[in-house]
Amino acid sequence: MTSQNENFLEIGAGGQMLRFPAVWLRDNCPCAECLDPVSGQKLKDITELPDGLTVSAVQDTGESVTVTYAPGGHRSVFSREWLAAHALGGDADTGGDGDGRTEDDKELWLPASLDGLPEHSWPRYVDEPADRASALDAVLRRGFVVLHDVPAEPGMVLEVAGSFGFVRETNYGRLFDVRVEPRPGNLAFTSRRILPHTDNPYRDPVPTVQLLHCLRAADDGGETGLVDGFAAAADLRATERETFDLMARIPVPFGYKDKSTELRASQPLIQLSPRGRIRGVRFNNRSAQPLRRPYPEVVAFYTAYRRWAGLLAGPERQLNLRLAPGDCLIFDNTRVMHARTAFSATGSRHLQGCYADLDGLASTLAVLQREETG
Ligand code: OGA
Ligand code: ZN
Ligand code: ZN
Repeated sequence: MTSQNENFLEIGAGGQMLRFPAVWLRDNCPCAECLDPVSGQKLKDITELPDGLTVSAVQDTGESVTVTYAPGGHRSVFSREWLAAHALGGDADTGGDGDGRTEDDKELWLPASLDGLPEHSWPRYVDEPADRASALDAVLRRGFVVLHDVPAEPGMVLEVAGSFGFVRETNYGRLFDVRVEPRPGNLAFTSRRILPHTDNPYRDPVPTVQLLHCLRAADDGGETGLVDGFAAAADLRATERETFDLMARIPVPFGYKDKSTELRASQPLIQLSPRGRIRGVRFNNRSAQPLRRPYPEVVAFYTAYRRWAGLLAGPERQLNLRLAPGDCLIFDNTRVMHARTAFSATGSRHLQGCYADLDGLASTLAVLQREETG
């Protein structure tokens, strides 16, 4: 069936009627005049399309649909398969954000509900694309993965980051050493315990992926804890809506300062997507700066902040791991908080860390999956 002189096209596909606005079709025309055949990028600006576009003729062969527009008489040929794959409303089941970054595209966990750790072995990860894809998928869905058998040699953490993306260099360097320093500029470089936190909340954008590679374990202590911040935020929303709303609405100033650096960023502790879904957490009391909102808001903030922190500290939320030399933890720094217990300063515990980003990781995974299915 064809509809004519309407501002939309309606076709049947797979037992459903699909409707597409004329302007949408025209904007997505795949012809060589509209789409560069080499790069696949659009050649036309949105303002170049005529006002009041309608569909003036439709020719439907079953396999393809040819649409003619008025005014102008331009023609587009779409495969039915392409139209069905791009049906409108198709991202509704993932909250409508469609970027893979919100709670809707994650498997939220408590340690008790995780069926086994996502863990892989470096040599196999390097050799087998399917193994690599499964490890990267774990970072996107569960927020972390442990790679065993990464040679416990300085600098290897950069090679791990390079296996799926690009190192995000910062004022700490391309990589940073986590070990006890005589005059530590960051409490990470002491033997103190560190409670669950996300790294570098004083940057915008934050590094979205963090790696920690163990070169030497502590004689005693220095265990790692992980908390799923999205699962915790979803529970907070379900049980204490007002606390959740305050955490999502009040921007908190974070800062870091040393001789050569002065970083600031101000963001709420729970970040929501444009559709109101959980999309990020920032949590790091060490680098939080004095809040300067009006008095009643500050009072309300502290009540809510302490409740959120109390919920996060629940021992049932924390997955405890002991990184052995050669283990490299890769995690989503916008979601999973990390912690460590205090350790004996007599030993020579040594981790190396670096940052990378989720977009590059997701890209590497998408290309791997293209090769798998292609
Ligand atoms: C860090 C950190 C944890 C550890 O360096 O960001 O939190 O296990 N370290 O030392
Ligand atoms: Zn065209
Ligand atoms: Zn940290």
